[in-house]
Amino acid sequence: MKPTLIRVGCAAVLLGAGYAGVAAAQDPTYARNLASACFTCHGTDGRSVGNVPPSLAGRDRGELLQMLMDFKSGKRPATLMHQQAKGYSDQQLEAIAGYFAGITKGPAAAAPAARVNY
Ligand code: HEC
Repeated sequence: MKPTLIRVGCAAVLLGAGYAGVAAAQDPTYARNLASACFTCHGTDGRSVGNVPPSLAGRDRGELLQMLMDFKSGKRPATLMHQQAKGYSDQQLEAIAGYFAGITKGPAAAAPAARVNY
């Protein structure tokens, strides 16, 4: 590859990385969008039914982040959380931990009314 092409390629990569950072900083739903992948098991906004798996809402940010980093590195044994944690960058895990820490603890939301009349 010619030096000019390499320079253009590098600039494109740097611009891309910069754009992702700016997008994250400007998108108020960024952290919730990431965290929503956890809702399936940990309940909407991290309030799980019967605390299984453990609720994440209102937990300490640093404690949540430490658990996630330990799942990611394999330091903390898990059945599936190590796979989940590996899907995110450290910065994304920080955003996710921050999101759940900012939610008020509470009971899991009631099932949608549509489900009641089966
Ligand atoms: C498929 C279901 C599932 C999904 C999706 C999931 N988790 Fe988990 N989570 C679990 C289970 C089950 C455990 C118990 C540890 C294990 O066996 O892996 C757990 C444990 C945890 C714990 C430890 C809680 C404690 O007090 O010990 C944290 C923190 C956590 N998950 C965060 C997350 C985050 C953040 C996400 C989204 C990125 C997520 N989980 C997505 C099922 C899930």
